[in-house]
Amino acid sequence: MKKLSIVILLLISSSLAWAGATNVVSLRGDVALDAPSVTTATKEWLVDGKINREYAQQPPLIPHDIEDFSINQKGNDCLSCHNWNSKMPGATKVGISHFLTRDNHTLANISPRRYFCTQCHVPQKDAKPLIGNMFRSLAE
Ligand code: HEC
Ligand code: HEC
Repeated sequence: MKKLSIVILLLISSSLAWAGATNVVSLRGDVALDAPSVTTATKEWLVDGKINREYAQQPPLIPHDIEDFSINQKGNDCLSCHNWNSKMPGATKVGISHFLTRDNHTLANISPRRYFCTQCHVPQKDAKPLIGNMFRSLAE
């Protein structure tokens, strides 16, 4: 038990040192955890053309602004254009994967685990990686 706590302490301190060294700041800003968060500035999203998927299972990026669309317990604006029965021309319909429960049952409507679209889909931006990495696209 004692050994385990030492290992955990070492891990925590080394990850803190790493975060300090690379100066990573979350989108919430450099604000103390118990302080109210500052509103983040509106981003300039890339809405001209599509950034391709890097691998087959990647949730496609959103090629349009989403500032005016809300997702809450009362409704989901995204579904008015992207649901299977939407009449919005040009809007890709969500695939059947979005109707599956975790036990692989197909529901008549969007599965609760796919309801909060922006959990997986984010607007496009040609942003620089926060830290260097060796990621290679499978599409290359
Ligand atoms: C007013 C209709 C409308 C609403 C509301 C809307 N979209 Fe879209 N969406 C579109 C259209 C049209 C396209 C295709 C645009 C293009 O290809 O340039 C699109 C494209 C997308 C794509 C890319 C699909 C692909 O095939 O690569 C994603 C992902 C997406 N939207 C997610 C969302 C999410 C998440 C929301 C809610 C936050 C949302 N959309 C709200 C109309 C809408
Ligand atoms: C848990 C993650 C997750 C959530 C939540 C989610 N998606 Fe997806 N989405 C994906 C993945 C992964 C793909 C690509 C594979 C696939 O089609 O299942 C995808 C694909 C799509 C596509 C492209 C479909 C195609 O045939 O090319 C659209 C459009 C889309 N999602 C819209 C939405 C909308 C709208 C919501 C909210 C109602 C949503 N997604 C919620 C992960 C998610």
